[in-house]
Amino acid sequence: MAKIKKIAILTSGGDSPGMNAAIRAVVRKALHENLKVMGVLRGYEGLINNDFIPMSSKSVGNIIQRGGTILKTARSERFLTQEGRALAYENLLKNKCDALVVIGGDGTFKGARIFIEEHSFPIVGLPGTIDNDLYGTDMTIGFDTALNTVIEAVDKIRDTAASHERIFFVEVMGRDAGFIALRSGIACGAEAVLVPEVLTDLKELHDQLTNYMSKKKTSSIILVAEGDDAGGAFSIKSEMEKYGDEFDMKVTVLGHIQRGGSPTAYDGYLASRLGVAAVEAILDDQRSVMIGMINRQVVNVPFNQTIKHHKDIDEELLKIVDVLNS
Ligand code: F6P
Repeated sequence: MAKIKKIAILTSGGDSPGMNAAIRAVVRKALHENLKVMGVLRGYEGLINNDFIPMSSKSVGNIIQRGGTILKTARSERFLTQEGRALAYENLLKNKCDALVVIGGDGTFKGARIFIEEHSFPIVGLPGTIDNDLYGTDMTIGFDTALNTVIEAVDKIRDTAASHERIFFVEVMGRDAGFIALRSGIACGAEAVLVPEVLTDLKELHDQLTNYMSKKKTSSIILVAEGDDAGGAFSIKSEMEKYGDEFDMKVTVLGHIQRGGSPTAYDGYLASRLGVAAVEAILDDQRSVMIGMINRQVVNVPFNQTIKHHKDIDEELLKIVDVLNS
C-alpha cells in the first residue's frame, strides 16, 4: 500500500459531546506522525462539495472542552447515491488525501463501508453518538455526557414531582435504542424505565404506580426512550389516563439538550484515546475499522461487524430498576 502522507477527517450524523476532543486528538496525533490533515466540513456533504480545510495544531486549540463539532455535521442524502460517492472520491484524490477518519454513528459507518467497497479507500471510524447503540464499543463518545445531562434535568424535575405529588414521564433520546433511558434511569433512581427493546405493558405500569400510591409513594419519574413501542411520552400519558384519573401526570421531553454541552471527563478521555488510536490504525494499514473501547482496552472492530451485529440491551439492568423500587 502507498505510504500515507495526508489524511482527511469529518464528523457526520447527530453531533455528540466529545466530537471536538476526538478531532483534536486525530489532528494532533497525525501531525505528530508527520502526516498532513484536512478537515472536511458538514460530513459526507463536504466531501461531495469539496469543502476541505487544512488543519493545524492551532486550529484544534481550545476545543477539547466544547460540545458540538467545529467541522459541522450533516446527514447526507447525496452520499447514499453512487454518483455522490464518486464525487466524494474524486475530491479526496484532488486534495491528495490517502485515508479518511469519520466520526459518527451507525449511518456514518454504513456509508463508509459502501464507499470502501466501491473505491477501495481506507477509512477508520470513531464511534460518536449519544445513543451508545454501536456494537464493538462499551461506550460511544457522547453517551456519558448525555447521561449526565439527563440526570441533571431529572433531579430538577423530581423536586417539582415530589412537591406536587405528580408522575412525570420524561422522554429521552436514543432513536430505536434504550441505552440512554436505562442507564440514566438507574443512575437517577427512576421508578420505571420504558425501552424499545422490551414490550411495554401499560396496564402493568398502571398497577405498579397504584401499588406505589398504596405505599404512600406519591411521586414518580418514568423514563421513556423515544423509540419505545408504546409511543412517545405524550401518547403513553394519554393511554395511562384511560385506566383512570387518580394520578396527576405530566410530560417532559428533554430533546436536543441531550446532544449539547461540554464533554464529561470520561467522554474527553475516551475521545482522546480513540482519536490517537485511529491514526495508529491508519498507519498500521487498517482500511475499514471502527476504533472502540471494550473492558478499557482499545480495539479495532471491522465496519462489517459493527454494522451486522446489534448491541443488545442488558435486561438484567431493567430488573435492577424494579429491585431498587421494591
Ligand atoms: O442519533 C442521535 C440522535 O440524537 C437520536 O437520539 C435522535 O433520535 C436523533 O439523533 C435526532 O436527530 P435529529 O437531530 O436529526 O432530529
